[in-house]
Amino acid sequence: KDDFVSSVSHEFRTPLTSILGYVELLLEDDPGDDQLEPLNIIKRNSERLLTLVSDLLASRNGQLIVTPHAVDVAELVRASVSAAMPKADASHVALIAETPANLEAHVDGPRISQVLDNLVSNAIKYSPDGGNVVVSLEHDGGNLACRVSDTGMGMNADDQAQVFAKFFRTSNVRRTAIPGVGLGLPISKAIVEAHGGTIQVESKPGQGTTFTFRVPV
Ligand SMILES: Nc1ncnc2c1ncn2[C@@H]1O[C@H](COP(=O)(O)OP(=O)(O)OP(=O)(O)O)[C@@H](O)[C@H]1O
Ligand SMILES: [Mg+2]
Repeated sequence: KDDFVSSVSHEFRTPLTSILGYVELLLEDDPGDDQLEPLNIIKRNSERLLTLVSDLLASRNGQLIVTPHAVDVAELVRASVSAAMPKADASHVALIAETPANLEAHVDGPRISQVLDNLVSNAIKYSPDGGNVVVSLEHDGGNLACRVSDTGMGMNADDQAQVFAKFFRTSNVRRTAIPGVGLGLPISKAIVEAHGGTIQVESKPGQGTTFTFRVPV
């Protein structure tokens, strides 16, 4: 079954990578105003499909391998916040990072970035116009603690209890057109736990949500 999933994923990834490559080439070539928007839409949707394929692949079994190195996690937080800034601006959400100048830890950089990207994209997606999202990072004993807080729609206790289950989306969100499949959080949890860490949610409906993850430094 795993072989099937990996080969299907591979078969998806190859043409998608090619589509993205050509779109990027066209975008570099100073497209006219009438072509810029459609090209950006193709690009965004191809990227979304690529992420979905990676997520499906990563979620096919619980075991997830991380390769830790010495990494400046403060830099990862700032990079993730910068990458999400266009989306935050477009949704009129104020997004800020509160990090020390640097915070070195022994972690898998790309995987921790994936957790940050998932939490930050959720915080923006599930916040109405005028919301605030703060990503903070600090030492906490022998761990690093990273918090992503938003002033968005929040979740009730029942939803919070299921939020790390694969393909779970709250009924509130399922009624909206906000895209997603319910894999970002289960994958983030698997990544954090593969580091020997923990992830928690605190939330109040209508007020906002805070996700906190801790991993040993
Ligand atoms: N910051 C948040 N505020 C409110 N609800 C949230 C928040 N983050 C997650 N949720 C709820 O938890 C569900 C699961 O989140 P998860 O990131 O796993 O999936 P998703 O965002 O729906 O899709 P994707 O797989 O693209 O991430 C969301 O659909 C939403 O209902
Ligand atoms: Mg998500």
